[in-house]
Amino acid sequence: MLKIDRLNEIIKNTVDVIEKSKNEIFDIAEGARRECKHIEDELNLVRNQTLEIIRQVDELKLQEVESRHRLMIVSKNIKEFNENDIRIAYERAKDLQIQFIIKQTEEQQLIQKRSDLERRLKLSRETTSKAESLVSKVGVAMGYLGGGLMELSEQLDDIREKQTLGIKIIKAQEEERKRVAREIHDGPAQLMANLVIKTELCEKLVDKNPIQVKMELNSLKELARVSLKDVRKIIYDLRPMSLDDLGLIPTVQRFIANYIDETKQNVELLVFGEPSALAPIAELAVFRIIQESLNNIRKHAHAKYIHVKLEFIAESIKLIISDDGKGFDKGNVKSKDIDGGYGLLSMKERVDLLNGKLEVISTPGKGTKIFASIPLQINEG
Ligand SMILES: Nc1ncnc2c1ncn2[C@@H]1O[C@H](COP(=O)(O)OP(=O)(O)OP(=O)(O)O)[C@@H](O)[C@H]1O
Ligand SMILES: [Mg+2]
Repeated sequence: MLKIDRLNEIIKNTVDVIEKSKNEIFDIAEGARRECKHIEDELNLVRNQTLEIIRQVDELKLQEVESRHRLMIVSKNIKEFNENDIRIAYERAKDLQIQFIIKQTEEQQLIQKRSDLERRLKLSRETTSKAESLVSKVGVAMGYLGGGLMELSEQLDDIREKQTLGIKIIKAQEEERKRVAREIHDGPAQLMANLVIKTELCEKLVDKNPIQVKMELNSLKELARVSLKDVRKIIYDLRPMSLDDLGLIPTVQRFIANYIDETKQNVELLVFGEPSALAPIAELAVFRIIQESLNNIRKHAHAKYIHVKLEFIAESIKLIISDDGKGFDKGNVKSKDIDGGYGLLSMKERVDLLNGKLEVISTPGKGTKIFASIPLQINEG
């Protein structure tokens, strides 16, 4: 039991880790996408700046050529221009040359920056597309893995429940044996012991006091009758032989008559359809469901009216047992506890084994309804 719990814990942790890893990969892809966008924005800015600076460089170049030309003319026509004109032309040409060189350097730097950004953008796009493909591949793989593990975990829960049920059934069998042993010990065994004592007494008295012997024999007969009745009841509880001798319906009728006798509750039995031959194991299941349901009603429900409905249809038998008792909240039944009630659980297990269906509908204060449907013919292996 512990191993299954441990395994289940490991599986659940693994599923958690898978979920977290999925999110982390998603974050990586998201980060790469954001980086791309950032580089694209910066590249656009740098591209515009480059265009602008190229334009400025071209313009400066023209101005610079034109200023050099002017300097040449001024220098050659000393008659027309004075010294000051020459100096101005010279300074302008020099100034424009410096400006041109500075702008040209700026232009080269921007072009360098642009190609760096273009290279980074290419790399970043590659990373994004790899991350995106990873997200989808890992997503699918992890989806499968996670789903598979969850399924496994559910199956483990199921196995654990079955293990618990197995232990409960063994306990129940033991309890049942103890109960039968106690019943035989307190009832028939006690009576038989009395019978032996009384027979010995009769033996001693037979010559001396025939009248008392007659009386003792009478009480002896009564003792034998009571113990026979007890033995019959014990046998009946173990397995009603009338199931084999008389069939299902008369056995159920008898059981209900007896129940009414003991509890004074109103039980109505309704049979629909043509009772057809059921596999013995299915017959026993129907009987046990009625027996356990009525025992539960007697023990827990405090009901006034009880209906037992049996319906034979083409390939199955339907069974409804309803009471108007106090009902219960299924969520509160600690079915998973080892020591909890096993009546409802073993009913369910019995029906499951026969490929049938069982449903318990109960609301506190509004009574309980048990629906069961069992196939008529069962392959008993
Ligand atoms: N007809 C009913 N009316 C009210 N409560 C019910 C009815 N049937 C079952 N219950 C509730 O469901 C619980 C589980 O029933 P279940 O038959 O499994 O166990 P149990 O009767 O307590 O014990 P066991 O059957 O093992 O002797 C009961 O303890 C009771 O609280
Ligand atoms: Mg019960």
